[in-house]
Amino acid sequence: MKLAVIGTGYVGLVTGACFSSLGNQVVCVDKDPKRVALLKKGRVPFYEPGLPELVAKNTKAGRLKFTRKLAGAVSSAEVVFIAVGTPSRSNGQADVSAVIEVAKEISGVMKKLRHGHKVIVNKSTVPVGMGDIVSKILVENKVPKNNFSVVSNPEFLREGSAIGDFMRPDRVVIGADNSQAFNIITDLYRPLNAHIIFTSIKSAELIKYASNAFLATKISFINEIANICERVGSDISEVANAVGLDKRIGRHFLNAGLGYGGSCLPKDVSALVHLSRENGHEPMLLSAVREVNEFQIDAFIGKIIKKLGNLRSKNIAVLGLAFKPETDDMREAPSIKVVQALIKKGARVSAYDPAAAPNASRLIKEAKLVKDMFTAIEGADALVVLTEWPEFVEIDLERVKKALKSPLIFDGRNIYDRGRVEDAGLEYVGVGR
Ligand code: UDX
Repeated sequence: MKLAVIGTGYVGLVTGACFSSLGNQVVCVDKDPKRVALLKKGRVPFYEPGLPELVAKNTKAGRLKFTRKLAGAVSSAEVVFIAVGTPSRSNGQADVSAVIEVAKEISGVMKKLRHGHKVIVNKSTVPVGMGDIVSKILVENKVPKNNFSVVSNPEFLREGSAIGDFMRPDRVVIGADNSQAFNIITDLYRPLNAHIIFTSIKSAELIKYASNAFLATKISFINEIANICERVGSDISEVANAVGLDKRIGRHFLNAGLGYGGSCLPKDVSALVHLSRENGHEPMLLSAVREVNEFQIDAFIGKIIKKLGNLRSKNIAVLGLAFKPETDDMREAPSIKVVQALIKKGARVSAYDPAAAPNASRLIKEAKLVKDMFTAIEGADALVVLTEWPEFVEIDLERVKKALKSPLIFDGRNIYDRGRVEDAGLEYVGVGR
């Protein structure tokens, strides 16, 4: 099929590259000339394992193209994906102005076309009702009603494993108001042999928010239990492992620590809270989910201050800045608040992250960003782990003990076994243990 994908951010680029590798002709559109130039050279402007190779391969095969010109891409496409950002406004509401703008631009192109039906697929995470708004924009801009269908097809991609998530999804949700549009999008996904679900547009829009809010709830739930563990002497890792064995609960997303960050979970929980309030329901659970998430960071900073006392003239080594491993994304990363708090209290921070340093340098200017783990650790008064990159999990603890000035580890992601750390002669402070 001929596809246009509007927006070459995370979602758009992964969607475009993956659909092209399934044999479709894909044109990805972006306003940013620098980004388009970079992509045309086969370079990906963010870190995602496997994506540069996939982009290069399909660009070379002529199935994947990049352009700034929306009109050309849309006029020849059978399916148009909208995959632009919907960031949070200060009140938590999703800012859908980019989606509206794209819908208007699409209308401008489509009203001039004499014939040809197109499916306009919303992949951006948008509040419930946005599908109707996009339809209304098209109709108001004189696109004949019979020439388009609007579909909601939310994405469930995780950064760091986005290609695998696209190719082997747990489910594909297609929200449509007619079976013709549903069938066209089903055909696109057919090669994946996935579980495809047909819903109303409004349900599909809510499924995305409900899924991310549930994941956030699981994390805040286990963090709440971790906080109880600390006070009663239980170990959250043991508790989570056993609780997670119940198939009704499941072990995923039961890792206690600094809480959730990233570009989706915080934003989507806030947007759902806003949507709920706007529609007359005060969301009690979701508000608590956010409170627990904020508490986790404050409590962790509190532990460091309690142990180290006055932080003035203390050197602190930080391992991990990205909001999670296998990404260079710093959006809503707990590291920002932790590092800033340590610096505010007078500490000198040396930090290492395998991928996020360039992005981090713009956000946490006062920290010294170094090129390897042991440069950060050498001579430090404590080691603070904020992201569970595999290389930190596998670190040589004996060497850490020798390198540190005082033998103290604050493990914000519970990646170390307390016994192993203590055997190496280090004092251990985790979360809920
Ligand atoms: C998430 C959703 O998983 C994905 O389906 C959606 O499309 C986009 O949002 P992502 O933001 O890439 O994906 O990260 P994810 O792997 O879900 O992790 C989110 C945050 O939760 C991270 O900060 C992570 O460290 C934290 N987390 C995750 C925990 O604190 N504990 C856990 O057990 C799992």
